[in-house]
Amino acid sequence: MNHSVSKKDVLQVCTGDITRLAVDAIVNAANISLLGGGGVDGAIHRAAGPKLLALTRTMGGCPTGEARITPGFDLPARWIIHTVGPVWQGGSQGEAQLLHKAYASSLELALQHGIHSIAFPAISTGAYGYPFAEAAKIAVQTGKEYAPELEAIIYCCYREQDATLYRQLIRDICE
Ligand code: APR
Repeated sequence: MNHSVSKKDVLQVCTGDITRLAVDAIVNAANISLLGGGGVDGAIHRAAGPKLLALTRTMGGCPTGEARITPGFDLPARWIIHTVGPVWQGGSQGEAQLLHKAYASSLELALQHGIHSIAFPAISTGAYGYPFAEAAKIAVQTGKEYAPELEAIIYCCYREQDATLYRQLIRDICE
């Protein structure tokens, strides 16, 4: 249990391309096939190289809310944790519970593999249409639950305004 560092210090925010982060694990916002796609999924497959797809072809996919782990291959990150967030359908189809589960499944898998630093994109907020602020709140609340077990949970935002929101949420939720 990591008592020395406060929850607030463990939860961090950065802006940029998650494929560049030299952390223990980056999280991929995948789809249930695990065979790649656009957005961050496409960026991670491009940067990790063809060995990633060769491996994910053999993994039989991943249900929404669950997570699977692969090596990072050509990425600076050692591992990739692939998770599948919910598609936003208006909010009455259990989307919040499934998004929480995607973050929690990723963090559980990280703990099982002795991972100390993990970076998340804003899962489901792109092609899957989840309202950004609502999704970010779930991301930070779930991160707070696991903060004592990890050294760094980094929310990697693609846009500066997204990072500003995450920083405000961390102040609101962790103080
Ligand atoms: N680094 C960090 N964040 C990124 C990057 C990147 N290189 N590229 C995109 N993002 C951000 C987007 O700005 C968005 O905020 O990641 C967030 C998630 O967007 P998507 O990648 O569209 O993921 P999602 O909404 O979960 O949709 C998943 O899209 O790419 C397909 O195969 C994927 O079917 C799946 C679906």
